[in-house]
Amino acid sequence: MLFSEACERNKQPIAAELARWLPRPARVLEIGSGSGQHAVHLTRQISQLRWQPSERAEQCLDLQQRIDREGRSPLAAGSQLADAITLDVCAGPWPAGPYGAVFTANTAHIMPASAVPHLVAGAAAVLAPGGLLLLYGPFSDGGQHTAPSNAAFDAHLRSIDPAMGVRDADWITALAEKQGMGALADVAMPANNRLLVFAAGGEAGRLGAGAVGLNAPHPGNGPPDSRC
Ligand SMILES: C[S@@+](CC[C@H](N)C(=O)[O-])C[C@H]1O[C@@H](n2cnc3c(N)ncnc32)[C@H](O)[C@@H]1O
Repeated sequence: MLFSEACERNKQPIAAELARWLPRPARVLEIGSGSGQHAVHLTRQISQLRWQPSERAEQCLDLQQRIDREGRSPLAAGSQLADAITLDVCAGPWPAGPYGAVFTANTAHIMPASAVPHLVAGAAAVLAPGGLLLLYGPFSDGGQHTAPSNAAFDAHLRSIDPAMGVRDADWITALAEKQGMGALADVAMPANNRLLVFAAGGEAGRLGAGAVGLNAPHPGNGPPDSRC
C-alpha cells in the first residue's frame, strides 16, 4: 500500500484549514488522491462530507487498498468515503457534478503544466455555483519562488522531468478567472506550502478582497519540507 511521510506531516494542518472552508453538507471531489491518506484523515476529522477520491488508472488500485482498509470507519458524523474512481484531468472522464468542493494536494507541480488548465476547467465544470476549488502545495508568485526550499524543490522536479515544476499562483488564478471563478483566499501553510481557494460563479467578487484567510500567515510556517 502506498504511504507518504509528507501526508502524515501535512494532513492535520490541511484538515484544520479545510474545516474552515468546506461547505457542509457537501460532495467533495479529490483529484490525485495518491495514497489516500488525506481522504481517510479528512473524512475522519470533518463531518458531513461525501468524499470522492480519484486517481489516474495506474495508481487507482493502490488508492482503493487504503480505502478498503481504513476508509470505512470510524468516520466523522455524516461523512462518507466512496470507492476510488479513475480520473486523469486531461483524459477524463470527470464524474457528474455538482460538487460543493474540489480539493487537490501536491498535484499541480507533478502533472505537466499543460494539464493544469484541464484541472482548473474540469473543476469549474463540476462545481456547483459558489462551490470551492482548493489547491494545496508549493506555489511561486509572479515567477519568483517564495522560499529557497521551494526553489530547490522546483529544480529537483525539473531535473527529473522538465514537464514537472512548481506552478505560479498568479497563473493558476488567471486560469481560474478564465473559468468564471474568483480568488477567495491564499492561505500560508507549514513548510512554505499554500492553500489556494477559488469560488465558482464569482463568489469572491461578492465577498470582496477581504475574505477570511486571504494571505493569512500560518504559525507553523518554517522549515523546508520533502514532498511525495
Ligand atoms: C505528489 S502526488 C500527491 C498525492 C496526494 N494528493 C498527496 O498529497 O500525497 C501527485 C499525484 O498527482 C497525480 N496526477 C499526476 N498527473 C495527473 C493527472 N493528469 N490527472 C490526475 N492526477 C494526476 C499522480 O497520480 C499523483 O498521485
